[in-house]
Order: sequence, then C-alpha cells, then structure tokens
Amino acid sequence: MARTIAVSGSASGIGESLAGLLRDQGDTVIGVDLKDAEVCADLAGPEGRARAVAEVLDRCGGTLDGVVACAGVSTVLQPPPTAVQSTSSARPTFTDLTVKVNFFGAVALLDGLRPALARAGRPRAAVVGSISATQPVDDAVLRACLDGDEPAALEAAARVVEAGAGNKLYPSSKSALAQWLRRACVTPDWAGAGIPLNAIAPGVVRTPMSAPLFEDERMFKAMNDAVPMPLNGYADAEVIAEALRWLISPANSHMTGQIIYIDGGAEPTLRGPGAF
Ligand code: NAI
Repeated sequence: MARTIAVSGSASGIGESLAGLLRDQGDTVIGVDLKDAEVCADLAGPEGRARAVAEVLDRCGGTLDGVVACAGVSTVLQPPPTAVQSTSSARPTFTDLTVKVNFFGAVALLDGLRPALARAGRPRAAVVGSISATQPVDDAVLRACLDGDEPAALEAAARVVEAGAGNKLYPSSKSALAQWLRRACVTPDWAGAGIPLNAIAPGVVRTPMSAPLFEDERMFKAMNDAVPMPLNGYADAEVIAEALRWLISPANSHMTGQIIYIDGGAEPTLRGPGAF
C-alpha cells in the first residue's frame, strides 16, 4: 500500500536517493530541504523548523507513515554553504550549523512530526548518523544537546573552535543524535506509540558532501585513516538509501534504538570485538 513519507535533505545525496527509491515503489514523498523540495525550509533555526513541520503536516493531512531525518552538514567535509540563510540578523558560522542542523534540526523535525506518525497504522522513523560518532567528542556540546539547550550547545561549540578542536563538532552532533535516539526510542511517545526509531551510520559515501575530500590529497589521506573501509570501499548513496528504505518499511516491526553501521567494516576495524 502506498505510504506518505517525509524526508529531509531530499535535494541531494542520500536523501535524494531515498526519495527516488520511495517514489519508484509508489510512495508519496514530502521532501524537506533548503531548495528543490516540496517543503523549502531551513532546519538550522526555530522558524524554519516550525515551518517545515507545519508544511509537512499540511501536505500529509495530519497522518504520516514515515519520517527520515537525513539533512546534515559536515564541518570536516565542506566549506560554509552559501545557500543557507540565517533566521537571525547574524549569519551563522559553519560551526553553528553542525550543531543546529545535525542535532537540533533533526530532533525538531522528528518531535514535531511524531504526533502525525502516531496516527498512522504502521509508522516508522529513522535518522542518518555517522561512523564519526565513534570518534572523540566534546562532552559539553554533547551534554547541552541532550539537555535540549541549544544556546548552551552553541556556546560550548564556540569554545571548542576557540580551543582549536573544531573537528570534534561533527562527531559530537552525530553522537548526540544517536544518544537522543536511544533514549527516546523506548519511551511511551515512540515505542509506546508503535513507532520504531533507528539510525543508519554511514562510513564514507560518495555524495556532494564528501566530494571535496576526494579532491584534496591531505584530506583524502586523513579520511582513509579515520574511516578504514575494507569491505568494498566507499559506498554510493543508494546503499544507504536501501537500508533506510527497509528501516521505515512495515517489515521492520520490532527493531528500535539501533545504530546500524553501513561503513564497509570501519566500525569493527576501529572498535574491535570488545565493543560488544
Ligand atoms: P548532501 O550534502 O549531498 O545532502 C545533504 C542535504 O541536506 C542537502 O540537500 C542540503 O541542502 C540539506 N541541508 C543542509 N542543511 C540544511 C538545512 N539547514 N535545512 C534543510 N536542509 C539542509 O550530503 P549527504 O552525504 O547526502 O548527507 C546526508 C546525511 O548523511 C547527513 O546527515 C550527513 O551528515 C550524513 N553522512 C554522510 C556521509 C558521507 O560520506 N556523505 C558519511 C556519514 C554521514
């Protein structure tokens, strides 16, 4: 039966690939992105997040079969995007965006659309994390995210950058997202409402986000050292999209709170057998 699924980050990379797979199987996709989407909204700020939720609810009529929070930015992988506009008078730094989009944007979308999921027969939700969440993180950023305190998270992020450890912010945002998910998934709001909530944590995926890494010799080496992928190397976006498709399919009735590494073996290489 055709379903209605909201996908953030639907204009590029993994989100675009997932939207295509879902449309091909007859689903209605409500894409959310900065541009080239059914709902154009900036998930970096409260106004854009509220508009995204309101417009998705309007389009789906208040009942939604699935939500995938895929939109994200990477401090490590890209220079600041020019398309993103701040909702405040000050333009956000890219540091801000990592925490704003990857954590607070994703959580706001999921929380905002959860009541619409709860009205569906077999609702499902998923997020896109990252293998980088297994790397060193900043505890203050992590704690503030999990407390839902965005101003404190941004202050902590600024301190991290000042200390020259800005490369901890992307892992921190993705680790916070994974921990939020594992806390929320078993609550009455999610498990109690029959909504599985899981994550895919990719290794390196060939998308516009990762493209700059392949063009810079120094970054390329750093990437390969940080994310060793002995099984079949870098993945294409479709590989991640296929896994997300299953996670939000009716077939997934009993798995929740799982961070599934689709990373060519990076996670077992880095963490070894002792992680379990
Ligand atoms: P991408 O750059 O191709 O697509 C990301 C999409 O998110 C873009 O369409 C962009 O416009 C949208 N987006 C960014 N900021 C936004 C905002 N403020 N409001 C609304 N939409 C916004 O990147 P890709 O690779 O498809 O990334 C998808 C997810 O996968 C991200 O969460 C990323 O962190 C994650 N990921 C990607 C990896 C990779 O190697 N490409 C590795 C691990 C995780």
